[in-house]
Amino acid sequence: MSSKYHHLIDGEWLSSPDYTANLNPADGEEVIGYSAQGDAATVDAAVSTAQRAAPMWACTTSQMRADILDKAGQLLLERASQIGHVLAREEGKTLSEATGETVRAGQVFKFFAGEALRVTGQQIASLRAGVEVGVAREPLGVVGVITPWNFPIAILAWKVAPALAYGNTVVLKPAELTPASAHNLAQILAEAGCPNGVFNLVFGPGETVGEAIVNHPDISAISFTGSQGVGQRISAACGRSQKKIQMEMGGKNPMVILDDADLDHAVDVSVNGAFFSTGQRCTASSRLIVHAGVYDAFAERMVGAIRVLRVGNPLDEMTQIRPVCSKQQLESNLSYVKLARAEHADVIGGEALDSRGFFQKPGLFLNANNSMRTSREEIFGPLASVIKVDSFEEAVCVANDTPFGLSSGICTSSLRRASHFKSQSTAGMVMVNLPTAGVDYHVPFGGRKGSSFGAREQGRMAVEFYSSVKTTYTFSG
Ligand code: UN1
Repeated sequence: MSSKYHHLIDGEWLSSPDYTANLNPADGEEVIGYSAQGDAATVDAAVSTAQRAAPMWACTTSQMRADILDKAGQLLLERASQIGHVLAREEGKTLSEATGETVRAGQVFKFFAGEALRVTGQQIASLRAGVEVGVAREPLGVVGVITPWNFPIAILAWKVAPALAYGNTVVLKPAELTPASAHNLAQILAEAGCPNGVFNLVFGPGETVGEAIVNHPDISAISFTGSQGVGQRISAACGRSQKKIQMEMGGKNPMVILDDADLDHAVDVSVNGAFFSTGQRCTASSRLIVHAGVYDAFAERMVGAIRVLRVGNPLDEMTQIRPVCSKQQLESNLSYVKLARAEHADVIGGEALDSRGFFQKPGLFLNANNSMRTSREEIFGPLASVIKVDSFEEAVCVANDTPFGLSSGICTSSLRRASHFKSQSTAGMVMVNLPTAGVDYHVPFGGRKGSSFGAREQGRMAVEFYSSVKTTYTFSG
């Protein structure tokens, strides 16, 4: 039986005249539910209830906010396998990735439950006698949250949990491809005791619902994760209306393999970084930059490793590479495989499997160079370029020569080179002997250059985005 996912506005589940089918990417024709379709009027209703609820929520005790977030985290953990199953069917993640992601969402809520109790300010000596200066953090008001399909519950958690912890109300627009996970989160927040109007959920397309959120005069801040093109349009619109913004917009993350690396480990790290989650992570290792001294050995081992990866149904426990999330994404990936051939890379794998689902074999673009379009544009699929370099210095230059700057990695046994790479990398996150993807939830997440804009997400630094600073001066005579 398929379900219907309604909007959540002011504590009410609201139906809509139109519904869109939620398809299983492992089948392509199996409908697993239908999501409501909102428009600008739906967004208006959600924002006005969020705005009405904002003063009340800002004044609730931190204990009450902490209790609600902790309860939501607990429910996510308790229902991780059930929610993970739905997530696997709508997004295509393997069951273990989908359940793991739901657990991570629960941990994020629990982390921010604690942070709600730790909002600090400062008291600073004034320049003037008898004057006290205080610096306090206050909520922003209504925060608009726009999320992608590739982490349909974890990214929602790491934006919504801090927004609520620091006293803001929320209007969330999740990706159209993954409504069920967002609906599950909304149900849990309601069950955890989140008061009416504090968290609101609106389904619908970016062109109407997303646009209405971005342009709404009563929304104070927008947190967005998605493509660079959409992120840049949102940034421009928010610049005009002076909304605070936090943008996470993808990457073309380098993984450097030096000639002193443990090659077996480097292959494991590269396979994980490039191909797990079908490469659909903005932190994926999509450029493998390999020292000439180990290039042939590394390439041979990578080719062997990807040939034995099991591509299959996400619900099958043996599956390592699940389907691509949508037909459109698969077509885009395949067009990059064609482009790689036209750019004279040696293409290994990358072909679509003959099935009703959106399955694609992992692919390597061997003997690529860093100026090819396939080495510069984010593909977001199970495809990685392999680029040969002659020295550590050249590896650092090639790694940094990209319009993006989210995550970077190096495999080396030299402490000196690892520490040099950490300081020279122009990415926001640097990994040594670890995949570029797969991050801890309690530390800052974000990048530089075209990857990110605005304050960091996650960990204690999330307070920078989800609060506003007020400086007070008091003369008490
Ligand atoms: C991870 O690598 O663990 O959209 C997280 C993305 C990122 C999250 C990656 N915002 O892929």
